[in-house]
Amino acid sequence: MTKPTLNVGLVGSGFMGKTHIFGYVLASRVFDLPFDINLECVAETTPELANDMRRRFGFGRSTANWKAMAEDQNIDIFDITAPNMFHKEMALAAIAAGKHVYCEKPLATNAEDALAMARAADKARVCTQVGFNYLSNPMFALARRLIAEGKLGEIRSYRGVHAEDYMSDSSAPWTWRLDPDGGGAFADLGSHTIATAEFLLGPVVSVLGSLNTIVRERTGPNGESMSVNVDDVGHALLKFENGAVGSVEANWIAKGQKMQHDFEVNGSDGSLIYTQERLNELLFFSSDDQEHMQGFRKIVSGPSHEPYGLFCVAPGHQIGYNELKAIEIMGFLKAIAGSSPEPFNFRAGARVQFLVDAVAESSATNSWKTV
Ligand code: NAI
Repeated sequence: MTKPTLNVGLVGSGFMGKTHIFGYVLASRVFDLPFDINLECVAETTPELANDMRRRFGFGRSTANWKAMAEDQNIDIFDITAPNMFHKEMALAAIAAGKHVYCEKPLATNAEDALAMARAADKARVCTQVGFNYLSNPMFALARRLIAEGKLGEIRSYRGVHAEDYMSDSSAPWTWRLDPDGGGAFADLGSHTIATAEFLLGPVVSVLGSLNTIVRERTGPNGESMSVNVDDVGHALLKFENGAVGSVEANWIAKGQKMQHDFEVNGSDGSLIYTQERLNELLFFSSDDQEHMQGFRKIVSGPSHEPYGLFCVAPGHQIGYNELKAIEIMGFLKAIAGSSPEPFNFRAGARVQFLVDAVAESSATNSWKTV
């Protein structure tokens, strides 16, 4: 039976552009998707780069004009992997043309813009997805299930961190990540920690933030010395609606850390520990175990943790980062087909943005902020 085809228009072919391609290709091979996926067009900053990426990624067409692609009748999914400061303009243009929009995190550079994007999508009745791919990990689903089933008892405390070291070299070339419009470690990485914290524990109700610029001078686009206005390290204390308290850290100058998207959840009867560099493992402590046998047990990902088994029939053989993107895409396509809710739509992305803004505001005013 032939399926309807969705044509994808991808903006940006950097780190995330490539990850999205892996995601589409994997998803269409691994899952029984409601649609066939056609890589229709890729947009980049120059015709040469766009054409090169068309050839390498396997798109039918390329363009250096993302606006024309947003209005193109042949595009069904408008996929944004361009830098943060472009997300709003691109998404609104695509929504206005009736496209479903898949946008990388953070959804926008501030909460007001993110909300405008969510409202526009609601009004146009298009489906949306924000790229918080860590939430697609079957081990995250298991963690959330263990919490919901009461296996940890009453949830008391949470610790989250997202630390990497890609900005630790102060002489490294200038990047859009240092632009005050949407840059900074907390917008970049803190958004992931907040999304994960709420995925596991539910709503955060108040925050106390501390955002700090540690590397104050960096090499500008033309080799000149430039002062930096965005944070390198951000912390936030959190109070959750369920009464738990916690903290998150976002740090892009953590020398030696390559992918520390980690969390710890402590309850009255048990705890969970997770580290992204071992993304197929979840450590679970239960006080139900006999006292002389108590300790963190390592649960290893396998076919019983859906949809792991569709990637690999054998437990412990591991899935990876690109598979998380494929799972994210599968959820988005099912939502477009109307067979399941949007996994993490623009409303959810706007909520994260509200929390990120609240942390920044709290840091600036040195006071708790209610969200
Ligand atoms: P990147 O700098 O590697 O790639 C961005 C691409 O967008 C570049 O190829 C650039 O030429 C292109 N671009 C810029 N302006 C454009 C325009 N006007 N038209 C067409 N193309 C344009 O950046 P990266 O790391 O891929 O980040 C992109 C987005 O993905 C950001 O929003 C970032 O926060 C997010 N991201 C998400 C991650 C995740 O785990 N979900 C991880 C890394 C980034």
